[in-house]
Amino acid sequence: MSLNENLINRRNKVVSRGIGLISNFTTLSGKGALLRDLEGNEYIDFTSGIGVTALGHCPEEIVSAIKNQADKLLHACIMVSTYEPYIELCETLVELFPHGNNTKVMLTNTGAESVENAIKIARQYTKKQAIICYSGAFHGRSYMAMSLTSKVSYKENCSPFNSEIYRLQFPSYYHYNDGLSYSDFIKREINRLNNFFNEYVSPNNVAAIIIELIQGEGGFNVAPIEYVQELRNICDKYNILLIFDEVQSGFCRTGKWAAYQHYNVIPDISTWAKALGSGLPIGAVIGKQEIMDSAITGTLGGTYIGNPLSCVSAIETIKYMKKNNINQKALEIGEKIKSNFEPLKKKYSGIGDIRGLGAMMAIEFVKNNSEPDSEFVSTLLKSCWKRNLLVINSGLHKNVLRFLIPLTIENELLEKGLNIIKEEIINLYS
Ligand SMILES: Cc1ncc(COP(=O)(O)O)c(C=O)c1O
Repeated sequence: MSLNENLINRRNKVVSRGIGLISNFTTLSGKGALLRDLEGNEYIDFTSGIGVTALGHCPEEIVSAIKNQADKLLHACIMVSTYEPYIELCETLVELFPHGNNTKVMLTNTGAESVENAIKIARQYTKKQAIICYSGAFHGRSYMAMSLTSKVSYKENCSPFNSEIYRLQFPSYYHYNDGLSYSDFIKREINRLNNFFNEYVSPNNVAAIIIELIQGEGGFNVAPIEYVQELRNICDKYNILLIFDEVQSGFCRTGKWAAYQHYNVIPDISTWAKALGSGLPIGAVIGKQEIMDSAITGTLGGTYIGNPLSCVSAIETIKYMKKNNINQKALEIGEKIKSNFEPLKKKYSGIGDIRGLGAMMAIEFVKNNSEPDSEFVSTLLKSCWKRNLLVINSGLHKNVLRFLIPLTIENELLEKGLNIIKEEIINLYS
């Protein structure tokens, strides 16, 4: 039995089946956009560990800052005493993402934890209970986050879910246009929300609307700008908090620090994780000061929130992103993806849509014009893996190929990976 097979066998014996496994790759080490398996084979990573290692694997500056911090302090607990890296990171985040005149932050360990706390804060501030979320949404696997998550396979047999959660159809023009013009579609979706307040839940009971401006697990569906701007007005009108979940879209992935910066709309609260830590677990809830401070002392917290190592990793990640203009890199990668696959879309009707923002790009595959073609994507992924390119899917039907390429990838590796995908698509369609 090979070393790779042996490790996977050992995994199968001791790791819960509830934790899914996308590929049969093993990983011993990583550098930049390359990973190495237990047998020494190198493969290209187009997933960044699901959007985390935006700066590639083990960037030297960040690893060395983590090592230095490890010699100084591993843990203190921010609820017990105050340490500099926690405060410096919060100061940096407030400066990057002002949510009003004064902004405050709560650090967390994960995306799901950020979402949990955003909801707790929104309920405390508004003294209302209901939360509106969207079809196709993914907000994590803890109970509130899972309850807000749409896809049923993430929550099979896990009920009862949290109550007072209401779900609207995500305004995806590609999926739900029903032949309407773009502007009529926006009008219909805004009407849908206003009718929702008559049919399902009173705005007087709604604490918050939570939305991913570009859905991650849902298949990189992009919310229309006009819709989001109107959402802001509606939230203001009814004293509903607008929460943007930026866990997957944040920190340069879309070519801006935040996806919301493409929209000219400021949320009341935003949630973050993934790329912020470059691989160490860290998340954040950012919000207007009066909202963040409305949480009663003691209702927020956690032993590990803002662990010193994770804070240092995040501080260095942001410095690196600024210094190397990673937003620009993301825009360039996005353009490369488009220019490689747009010509194929003209040729093959199976390529239904190419969409995204910056480097957060995806290709949706369909058959008979609009039916999800999950089998095609499953075969495509496997044929890419055989050629040592790690790619993953997304979408409710797993029929979307998503690109979460490390933003620091060398041109040569980028071209090589994109060519493999192109060749395999052509192969499978011929
Ligand atoms: C938009 C979004 N929110 C929340 C989460 C949950 O994050 P975590 O897995 O760190 O709990 C994810 C994870 O994929 C996500 O994409």
